[in-house]
Amino acid sequence: MVHVTHASPPSSAILGIETSCDETAAAVVEPSGLVRSSVIASSQQTFQATAGVIPEQAARMQLQAILPVIDAALAQAGIPLERIDAIAVTRGPGLLGSLLVGTTVARLLRALTGRPLIGVHHTLGHLSSPWLYAPGEAAPAIRFPVLTLSVSGGHTDLWLRTGHTRGRLLGRTRDDAAGEAFDKGASLLHLPYPGGPAVAHAAETGDPKAVPFPLPLSGEDTMDFSFSGLKTALRYRIRDHAADSLPDLAASYQLALCRHLTDRVARALDRHIDCVEVHLVGGVAANRHLREELVALCRTRGIPFRTPGAPAACTDNAAMIALAGGFMATELGDAAYAPFATLPAIPLEEVVRDVGE
Ligand code: KG4
Ligand code: ZN
Repeated sequence: MVHVTHASPPSSAILGIETSCDETAAAVVEPSGLVRSSVIASSQQTFQATAGVIPEQAARMQLQAILPVIDAALAQAGIPLERIDAIAVTRGPGLLGSLLVGTTVARLLRALTGRPLIGVHHTLGHLSSPWLYAPGEAAPAIRFPVLTLSVSGGHTDLWLRTGHTRGRLLGRTRDDAAGEAFDKGASLLHLPYPGGPAVAHAAETGDPKAVPFPLPLSGEDTMDFSFSGLKTALRYRIRDHAADSLPDLAASYQLALCRHLTDRVARALDRHIDCVEVHLVGGVAANRHLREELVALCRTRGIPFRTPGAPAACTDNAAMIALAGGFMATELGDAAYAPFATLPAIPLEEVVRDVGE
């Protein structure tokens, strides 16, 4: 067993590994957020026929992909394994078999290289993703407090963060996650998996005002989310109005989902006027319409808006895990390198803590 003491954060290159769902990803990122390489092998196409991931099959495919993907990330970065300063790996939440592929290989690399290992919460990776930047771009300034809308297939959260690992959860979904609402809506519309991009694509030529879906929780004094009513409304609409066109339904449903999300952000900004930035992260952040709605809201409020530049940095990737590992090392010191368990469920509140203002 290798024991190393790490008083300071990694100085140059962090290897990130992410295998929480159906992707196998590795990346090399500098602690400032500069992405030296980011490689993703996805088995998404395999699971289109089943309209969802089959966990054991995903893990088997990841086992085959993981070493070539890590090799490719190191080669593209032009950095050999010996020159990596730290390894960051997703320790959960996610599919356990898939997570174990990543964490087992990461533990092996730690033993082989003696480099420190950081276990990262998958969603902390998403929360860190707006600060990733490509070669040739300027490093984004990091300022807090930040209001973060975190929307993926597994969660929908609104955070007020005073640091990378400090903050308060203002609201979360009471039922489906936003990505799930896109995926289930796509299934009702007989569109392929994953549903988000499919709904967005179908919506391109539709009229978003064609079907007036209700705004969820509009009368309640809360920053929580709820999507199950919209999904039910879509189901009844399809059943009762056979003449509706697919593009109109997709555009109207997408508009309703995005309005609900934007409405919560507007409420949060009303209450937390000290926020210096609004961030949008997670797979659903790849949705162009949602980005446009939030850009417009932030413009009227005079507050900067930040989201990962490329859609591939919104959906699951290893660059965000590497950067989150670097942020953890900076804020938590040696505690970032503590031994960790690989777990299918971990509340983010265990990692992003409310330590008061
Ligand atoms: O963050 P992510 O890649 O995986 C999870 O951690 O869940 O998010 C996946 C989710 C899926 O539900 C997918 O349908 C959704 O993000 N998504 C989108 C778009 N691209 C991916 N939703 C709406 N519009 C998109 N363009
Ligand atoms: Zn994710």
